[in-house]
Amino acid sequence: MENTTKNDSVKVGELEFPPRKVWMKTYGCQMNYHDSERIMSHLSGMNFTKTEEQSEADLVIFNTCAVRDLANQKFYSHLGETKKLKTNPDIDPETGLKKNVIVAAGGCIAQTEGKDLVQKYKQLDFAFGTDVIDNIGEMVYRAYAGEKKFTVTAWDRSDNYSIETKITQGTPQAFVNIIKGCDKFCSYCIVPFTRGREKSRRLAEVVTDVKRLVEYSGIQEVMLLGQNVNSFGKDNGESLGQLIMELEKVNGLHLLRYTTSHPYDVTDDLVEAHANSKKLANHLHLPVQSGSNTVLQRMLREYTVEHYLSLLAKMRKANPEMVITSDIIAGFPNETEEEHQQTLQLLKDAQFDNIYAYAYSSRKGTKAARMNDVLTDDIRGRRLREVMDLQLSIQAEIRRGMTGKTYRVLVDGKNINKGVQKWQGRTSCNRIVHFEPANPEQDYMWNWVDVEITSATALSTQGTLIKEYGKTL
Ligand code: SAH
Ligand code: SF4
Ligand code: F3S
Repeated sequence: MENTTKNDSVKVGELEFPPRKVWMKTYGCQMNYHDSERIMSHLSGMNFTKTEEQSEADLVIFNTCAVRDLANQKFYSHLGETKKLKTNPDIDPETGLKKNVIVAAGGCIAQTEGKDLVQKYKQLDFAFGTDVIDNIGEMVYRAYAGEKKFTVTAWDRSDNYSIETKITQGTPQAFVNIIKGCDKFCSYCIVPFTRGREKSRRLAEVVTDVKRLVEYSGIQEVMLLGQNVNSFGKDNGESLGQLIMELEKVNGLHLLRYTTSHPYDVTDDLVEAHANSKKLANHLHLPVQSGSNTVLQRMLREYTVEHYLSLLAKMRKANPEMVITSDIIAGFPNETEEEHQQTLQLLKDAQFDNIYAYAYSSRKGTKAARMNDVLTDDIRGRRLREVMDLQLSIQAEIRRGMTGKTYRVLVDGKNINKGVQKWQGRTSCNRIVHFEPANPEQDYMWNWVDVEITSATALSTQGTLIKEYGKTL
């Protein structure tokens, strides 16, 4: 249905789409970043290119996150600022006409609040949920056809979840969604409401998809994505462990990661995959949330601290190089001082390499939001600081052990620190490593290199280059 005409416009249905610019802001988790890439790939077929300058944009899209209060506040404030785009439209230099900027909000806030947002914010033209990403073209078409103030938040009711991964970045790394939704309903969490029920892709489809990415798009590193990837394939008699061992056979794929995992669903075949796969990263992100069994019960997490620690032991036995990271929520409703101390003890026992720690944030519609909570923001703030301070000292100690060892990294960026240019990459165990180039003129971007670590602290790791492999291994 698309045809390029002589004035560089693309015809879509009845409308001409001249070259236009889209500005997109993504909040939240990797799933959202993955969705944004998908949105971008659909829009490029409608003659949109990306801009980093909001003032230049014809189309402004927010891909929102609802998981904590802060992410919500950021979005509402950024959305508020777009009012000026509408009240003071620029003159389009090409047509000499007033530029009609379209503003849209998608993602997790839009899924549950879409209708209210569109009503409340005059400048918002349409809102769309998390399960209609692939219909973005149709929505943008409707907006340019003149339709105003609509909301699309339908759930995909089909039995199957079948897609082909879209990539737009031109890098050797790709996100590949393998499961969507979440059925866990942890008592504090909004995600099951914003992302709907769990649905997995079929194993064979994912393998074909990854082979295609490796062969035709130069992908060498894949991150398998889902809110709970450990549930992958449950309804189809398939599993994440099986998928990993199939992807192991894909020539040209060098590194395989996955996120996020729920401890309840870590199966023996996944542990075995960590022992047997050479491509699987030496890293597991396994959110624990709390070190207190009573809090874990109130969170409806379905495991105990003892079970969690036994999983870590199994994983470390399967792969002695394994590095484990986690998430902690400080100040869950009515958490006692003793329960908080149990979390500090868990940090000592688990020896995480890094954690993401958050103060509990009440989410409307969740079970925890209905609990009669006596904790204050001050208590939550103090406990969060204690969690982070303790973790930083543990992590400094763990990372000191990196000194003198050699790690292979795929270079993914460079930065200048105190006038010195350094390149950076991520180890298989998910630590960021900086190194100074042997030759300042050489471009190391997306090259594989071996780096020997010269110094490592809780938050930064420096090394020297000892071997270069070029763009592929
Ligand atoms: N599916 C993933 C996590 C999704 S949300 C999992 O289960 O691990 C990412 C993290 O945000 C969670 O692990 C949790 O630590 C935090 N989080 C979720 N809801 C929260 C809330 N209401 N308040 C504070 N932190 C929260
Ligand atoms: Fe939220 Fe729990 Fe699902 Fe993770 S597993 S997304 S924390 S409900
Ligand atoms: Fe946020 Fe939605 Fe991800 S709530 S964390 S963007 S699933």
